[in-house]
Amino acid sequence: MHSALLVQDLSVSLRGRALIEGVSFAIDPGQRMALLGASGSGKSLTAAALLGQLPTAMSASGRLQINGVEVPLSKRRSSRAGITAIHQDPMAALNPLVRLGKQLEIPLRHAGLPASMARKRALELLTSVGIEQAERTMESFSGELSGGQLQRVCIALALACRSTVLVADEATTALDMVSQAKVLDALARNFTSAGAMLFITHDLAVAAAFCHQALVLKSGRIVEKGSMESLVDRPVHHYTQQLVEAAHVGFDSLPPEATA
Ligand SMILES: Nc1ncnc2c1ncn2[C@@H]1O[C@H](COP(=O)(O)OP(=O)(O)O)[C@@H](O)[C@H]1O
Ligand SMILES: [Mg+2]
Repeated sequence: MHSALLVQDLSVSLRGRALIEGVSFAIDPGQRMALLGASGSGKSLTAAALLGQLPTAMSASGRLQINGVEVPLSKRRSSRAGITAIHQDPMAALNPLVRLGKQLEIPLRHAGLPASMARKRALELLTSVGIEQAERTMESFSGELSGGQLQRVCIALALACRSTVLVADEATTALDMVSQAKVLDALARNFTSAGAMLFITHDLAVAAAFCHQALVLKSGRIVEKGSMESLVDRPVHHYTQQLVEAAHVGFDSLPPEATA
């Protein structure tokens, strides 16, 4: 069986300076991997390299496979087959001039759904991420929604793309706790069981409740990787120990089923 996502020896450099170095990991189908690390540790650059969306001055090397299929890392593109992003900034991901329903229906139609089914599925996805007035939201433009609502629309949009790999970069950080729980639940329920999720966050408590495995980045290198459980129970690297210590306040405030 192939990994859903395989990354080997990924490096990113800018004018000869290494920003990411020797990053290797694999995610099996159905698994969610947390990518943890302090601000500036290289989380977003790792995501951008996988998506083919690095700034033009940067170059990437290494190996990327999606479902066993080799994907050239060097090519830059607006969208890469088999991999979809949920970005930190929802405004950047949405077209302000196209009704949100239409934007959701496009990838669903691409996947072969007839128009009526695409609309029905778009409504379902919006509802699943906790948008209460899904019908009205379908008719709205991005400028008419709050930041939290837009973030959820983006998550519904990413789910509509049905990619093998989903990369979520701080996708729920801006949401309140209740909305965040709803959205994570929707992500877990609606994302294909054959797929892999790379869940980027600096919030260990959220990662622990949502992810099966974890990677910890520091200065562009992986300093620790393993099951989420072992990372939380027995952090080895000093930086990971600090992360776990700092998160304990957060763990205590989570409901018991979220930490189980
Ligand atoms: N466009 C850029 N130009 C130059 N350096 C960058 C650029 N984007 C990120 N970096 C550098 O790469 C490192 C990792 O950044 P990033 O991946 O955004 O961190 P994180 O997402 O973990 O906060 C940082 O040191 C940052 O300064
Ligand atoms: Mg970032």
